Amino acid sequence: MNTKGGCGKTTVATNLASYCLAQGHAAELFDYDVQGSSTQWLKARDPQLPGIRGVEAHKPPPAGMTRSWQLRVDAHTRYVIQDTPAGHVGFDLADRVSESDIILVPVLPSAIDIRSTANFIRDLLLVGKARAGNKHIAIIANRTRVRTRSLEMLERFLRNLDIPVIAHIRDTQNYVRAAEKGIGVCELMERAALKDVTPWQNILEWIQQHDPATAQHVPLTACGATPV
Ligand SMILES: Nc1ncnc2c1ncn2[C@@H]1O[C@H](COP(=O)(O)OP(=O)(O)O)[C@@H](O)[C@H]1O
Ligand SMILES: [Mg+2]
Repeated sequence: MNTKGGCGKTTVATNLASYCLAQGHAAELFDYDVQGSSTQWLKARDPQLPGIRGVEAHKPPPAGMTRSWQLRVDAHTRYVIQDTPAGHVGFDLADRVSESDIILVPVLPSAIDIRSTANFIRDLLLVGKARAGNKHIAIIANRTRVRTRSLEMLERFLRNLDIPVIAHIRDTQNYVRAAEKGIGVCELMERAALKDVTPWQNILEWIQQHDPATAQHVPLTACGATPV
């Protein structure tokens, strides 16, 4: 999520779905953006490739279908990845936050993007009540070339709020080429894309560390009970 447009929400949603799949975790893509970029990515995907179920969540359910049936999740699905729109129109921040366990915020390293992301993080905490709901928030620095002064400023601001920057994504045409084919950079199978796997490893690792399904075992183990 990030109300700033073009910062990489769809890139993160689609590449993460593709990487989850490559790691053997079934993933679904819920597209909350009327622009439908994640849906278009899925449509471009070769049907021979492992599938990712997509839901056009920005649309009302078809006649005769309930909203909850439209948004049902397959029993074998491990991760539901929501792609959200830019701006505040047609986007219910409180709903999106309450339905998430983990919120990933992509940000571009420009002064304008960083300032609006800082405002968005405030909204997440104040309007979305992300802290009160025990949501885990992390930043993904996207299209990083060099470490900029503004990125360092953002990192300082986030450190004060205790929000980590969990990955840096390179600025590379690999993302553009992969998007055209409905695949993630990890599925490009090219030498030139090998180093682009690292951020996705880091992101999934962080998600797994903060996954409430596994985190809930920690206190049980700590008090000597056997985890189920
Ligand atoms: N790391 C990157 N390197 C190169 N191009 C990128 C990168 N991240 C995003 N893009 C491109 O920038 C554009 C906007 O990204 P997108 O993920 O659609 O942003 P959002 O969903 O936040 O509006 C897209 O054309 C996408 O392919
Ligand atoms: Mg998008």
